[in-house]
Amino acid sequence: MTITEIPFERLDAEKFIDEKCRSLVQETGDDIAVNALSGGVDSSVTTMLAHRAIGSRLKTYFIDNGLMREKEPESVISVMTGLGVPVERIDAKKEFFSALKGVTDPEQKRQVITDTFYKTVFGRLVKESGAKFLLQGTIYTDVEETVAGIKRQHNILSQLGIDTESAYGYRVIEPLIELRKTGVRAVGKALGMPESVYNRPPFPGPALVTRVIGEALPERIERVRKATAIVEEELAGVDAFQYLAILHEDRVTGVYEGARRYGNQIEIRCWDSRDAVVAKPTRLPFELLEKIAARVTAEIPEVVSVTYNITPKPPSTIEAL
Ligand code: XMP
Repeated sequence: MTITEIPFERLDAEKFIDEKCRSLVQETGDDIAVNALSGGVDSSVTTMLAHRAIGSRLKTYFIDNGLMREKEPESVISVMTGLGVPVERIDAKKEFFSALKGVTDPEQKRQVITDTFYKTVFGRLVKESGAKFLLQGTIYTDVEETVAGIKRQHNILSQLGIDTESAYGYRVIEPLIELRKTGVRAVGKALGMPESVYNRPPFPGPALVTRVIGEALPERIERVRKATAIVEEELAGVDAFQYLAILHEDRVTGVYEGARRYGNQIEIRCWDSRDAVVAKPTRLPFELLEKIAARVTAEIPEVVSVTYNITPKPPSTIEAL
């Protein structure tokens, strides 16, 4: 299937919503559709759009994979239920961590997330709910990067030749696939969502796994989760496209109370970008970077080194995986 992009300049958000609602009603008929809400802009806008189109025939799940940021499950669920959309939280932490055990290769980690999400967790949920469709917020950029072979975005299936009906037992519907991020934000705004949702900085589907080099063990995810919280707090007022922390695998020498101590390294990234296709590191004030480094090493004792990425994309990418 060829997908034609709707560029932001040509997008009429109201018309887009009307058309998508009509086609969602038509495609799903009298059947139930399930939907995975991650809290990111794409999945939140998909949820709102589908809720408007098919109402109670939509069952929205928040999959708690143990890989999200601090307090994220609670806050995502409360925002969406506040907008009138019922959300069920599914505890799938054990399933994800046991599948990730021993996996260090970036593409393999992405594959494990895909399989656990679509096969193990959604295979089960679809069976239990009797749903025939899974709605998801894939956007044009996800398809482009996957098809170009840069990265396999976790949500790309049919474009890679995967027949979800025979592989997982349900059909996937992707109402936002012709849009890029700026277009999705405009649709979210037109749907009446709060700015905190439609303007949320991007966060990847495979969550903190994309920010851990090497094995995504629970304690390593916890370390990058703490660093992420510090970076997000300190950079909240900065006008940037996205900012994040990455946990490296190195055993770095540090000094603690006059003695050598091996520890971890955290890399901070902060990006200026329009659509994530190309990006430049933000020229952050040095004092702000020093403050982040001081907090990270004080609040996460396993970390002895903090760096700032100064390489643009390309050749870097926004996430580490
Ligand atoms: P990269 O790291 O490819 O990131 O330069 C580009 C943008 O995409 C986000 N990203 C993802 N989003 N699933 C997603 O939904 C993914 O697998 C994924 N990988 C990266 C990333 O946060 C950035 O905004």
